[in-house]
Amino acid sequence: MSAHVDDSRTHLLQATPDGIATAGALLRAGRLVAFPTETVYGLGADATNGKAVAAIYTAKERPSFNPLIAHYPDALSAMQHGRFNNTAKKLAQAFWPGPLTLVVPKAENCPISDLASAGLDSVALRVPQHPTARAILREAGTPIAAPSANRSGRVSPTLAFHVMQDLDGRIAAVLDGGETHVGVESTIVACINDRPVLLRPGGVTREAIKEVLGFDIDDVDPGNSANSDAPIAPGQLSSHYAPKAAVRLNASDIQPGEAALLFGAPLPGTDNAVAQFNLSQERDLSEAAAQLFAALRTLDTSGANCIAVASIPHDGLGEAINDRLQRAAAPR
Ligand code: TXA
Ligand code: MG
Repeated sequence: MSAHVDDSRTHLLQATPDGIATAGALLRAGRLVAFPTETVYGLGADATNGKAVAAIYTAKERPSFNPLIAHYPDALSAMQHGRFNNTAKKLAQAFWPGPLTLVVPKAENCPISDLASAGLDSVALRVPQHPTARAILREAGTPIAAPSANRSGRVSPTLAFHVMQDLDGRIAAVLDGGETHVGVESTIVACINDRPVLLRPGGVTREAIKEVLGFDIDDVDPGNSANSDAPIAPGQLSSHYAPKAAVRLNASDIQPGEAALLFGAPLPGTDNAVAQFNLSQERDLSEAAAQLFAALRTLDTSGANCIAVASIPHDGLGEAINDRLQRAAAPR
């Protein structure tokens, strides 16, 4: 198959040398290809090609003021496109490749299109760990802008099948690399000012960052947004992860007509739930994170008008899980 594939349908590529070569060729040709990372599936386009990036916004129906993350096969190539202070260097060394995105000032000759960075003078850079992702990025030979491969406002995809549900017929190809194992998106840290700021909790925990830096990382301060130095994370729209059903958090029981999203022991009333999904019988937060988005999709198709969610501890990956659940529950 060449880069000139039929536009009217989305090709399902396998994670073979052939599939990876086709994905790379399509990306170089300015086409859209969804591919697995260790966090969630990304919808990739050549970050240096404004037209290709624009096609992401169209396919996702995403508000175009959202800046995108540029993905690289290795830390060395990522570091050429941003200005890294000591903190950024430390974090890159400790967590790349891995589920961490660093927002840093743009390097002078950074080729990332203004559309991908939404006109900001900073860029979000990430080196994923997933071997298939890295192979595609190497093959593409250009930074790849990739938001999660779902329609805007929907739950992020952790299977190629989820991508097809949202984007079939709208993008050139999906490369099927099986289930993503982290399941929540990367942690985003801005290293613009003296102190790094946590823009989004994710696959690298606050505790792990503290261990590397020797101090607690600050949260993004919404009251500080008037300060032009403060990095903005417009992607943090409050209802970002929205199933069609309503979402009720910290449930202590399951009401008639509800679907149950459990963590550990079943809640009273679970037997009568419209559907149920246990994120982790053993209360393991990594397992829960990996299952979270698939669970929301599954329960949403049960027809229940509300998903009742058991409370989940806030430590470690629990912070990212609770962040996504709060967005799913936000009024819309
Ligand atoms: O795990 C992930 O990060 C996935 C996979 C595919 O890599 N990608 C992902 O991308 O979650 P997306 O587009 O859904 O989230 C990108 C986030 C948004 O919240 C956006 O606002 C923020 O990154 N962002 C990007 N550039 C930024 C910048 N220059 N300053 C502040 N925030 C930025
Ligand atoms: Mg997303």
